[in-house]
Amino acid sequence: MKRNFLVFLIVLSVIFSMGLATTYVVGTSADFPPFEYVQNGKYVGFDMDLINAIAKTEGFNVQIRDMAFDSLIPALKAGVIDIAIAGMTITKERQKVVDFSNPYWFADQDVIVGKNSKYTVTVLFGNHKIGVQTGTTGDLWVTNNLVKAGILKETGVKRYQSFIYALQALLNGAIDAVVLDSPVAERFAQVKPVKVVAILITGESYGIAVRKGNTALLNKLNDGLKKVKSSGKMSKLIDKYFGK
Ligand code: ARG
Repeated sequence: MKRNFLVFLIVLSVIFSMGLATTYVVGTSADFPPFEYVQNGKYVGFDMDLINAIAKTEGFNVQIRDMAFDSLIPALKAGVIDIAIAGMTITKERQKVVDFSNPYWFADQDVIVGKNSKYTVTVLFGNHKIGVQTGTTGDLWVTNNLVKAGILKETGVKRYQSFIYALQALLNGAIDAVVLDSPVAERFAQVKPVKVVAILITGESYGIAVRKGNTALLNKLNDGLKKVKSSGKMSKLIDKYFGK
């Protein structure tokens, strides 16, 4: 009898927890393999699995919203999304407007050119067209280190909402090179006719962003991250997306 009651209680609590679990809207920019991309109409990738794993351990649901990378922080501020996970670098500027989880990945910036191109690192200098994704740290690097330094003309920077378009422009010869995060550049070099010709050591760390002051959610994310690491789930994800 006691046992039946216990089972009843468990079933009840499961139903309750399913029904009452909060759903957080998670924004991403699904143009960044292997972190987030679209496959068979679904949002997949390391970040997508990571946020789902965190959600599972912390008992919340997630709903993914794809948008341009530079819309993520405004969307967080406006309350359109609750979480942004998009291989987003933790920067001092961004920390003024959003809060970041503990770092979960590290990256530098790479320069990629077409596979058969003769360009080397010197593509960054002079009269060339360099593609970046608007508002990314790659965009900032090119703007601060090349344009402001007078090495590249402002008109030489081609800004794209999505890396899909930047890659297309590179492949059809509209631009000469793209500056983007090293893990993503390496992935593109495996699956597209492009090659890495330079690494710019920027020492970036990726974090998951929430609205400034949303400490309750931030704590859940950090706690979840810790558990995903200690349970071995993190290593499985690394194998899945970065293993050979
Ligand atoms: N890490 C870079 C940044 O924070 C690029 C991120 C781009 N992410 C994306 N999902 N397209 O600016």
